[in-house]
Amino acid sequence: MKGLFNLRELSTEKINEIVPTALNFKKGIKSVLYPGTKMATLFFENSTRTHYSFIAAMLNLGIKPVQVNLELSSIKKGESLYDTVKMFECAGFDGVVIRHTKDGYYNELSGINIPIFNGGDGVSDHPTQTLLDLVTIYEEFGSFEGLKICIIGDISHSRVAHGDAEIMKRLGMKVYICGPNEFLDNTAESMTPDEACEIADIIMLLRVQFERHESNMGMSLTEYHQKFGLTKSRMLRMNDSSIIMHPAPINRGVEIANEVVECKKSRIFAQMTNGVYTRMAVIHMVLDGKL
Ligand code: CP
Repeated sequence: MKGLFNLRELSTEKINEIVPTALNFKKGIKSVLYPGTKMATLFFENSTRTHYSFIAAMLNLGIKPVQVNLELSSIKKGESLYDTVKMFECAGFDGVVIRHTKDGYYNELSGINIPIFNGGDGVSDHPTQTLLDLVTIYEEFGSFEGLKICIIGDISHSRVAHGDAEIMKRLGMKVYICGPNEFLDNTAESMTPDEACEIADIIMLLRVQFERHESNMGMSLTEYHQKFGLTKSRMLRMNDSSIIMHPAPINRGVEIANEVVECKKSRIFAQMTNGVYTRMAVIHMVLDGKL
């Protein structure tokens, strides 16, 4: 199968090739166009950043995007994901972007001959988010080796935390996690938010993913903010060179104080900008047979 499914199957060399390709697109050094190319987007879960930055990336590359309205599609009549994607292949589409609730949904698509770009699967992976996070970190620090990141929040329900931690460790970063006990798993060693402010080069906040919870969180949102949120006073205790990241969407006042979202240390909106260039790099490298 062609495309990008997860970063686990990608060599470190390939990951290190995507990062500068994205930054070259950002600097305007690399301009590539794919006229006459069309791609479809199939989002089975809500999305703003991933969906529309893939669309922006396609438009920047001269690719015509078609957003599939799944509510009006034959998925609603029981058609399988495989048969749906096969239809786009037969209709002459040159690729599809898919976000799906099911971990590893792409394993059902092995007979598909057009590139598939994973826009997030279940709680497993979100490869273009991990790549845009790496692009943002590289842009800031110029390397990955030895950097310390603490990911704070709903780790166990987060495909971003799982995907990022695995690849960041491979690139030589030291990864820590933090959050209420019921949100922690074996992704990495845990620490408190105050310890994270002392040592981390990067603090990455995560949204509490209420839609994935089977029971109520054992504390109020105000209590969560006090115990685990990046408050202004915690932000002021961070090291001078350290930065704040968040894949977003953000719950202002829960995992991060409203006034911290756009403080000098925040790279949250830079991540969104880098998402477009990262997705351009991924689409370009797949269409050119480099991925
Ligand atoms: N970060 C991220 O995946 O955001 P969306 O859910 O809005 O795509």
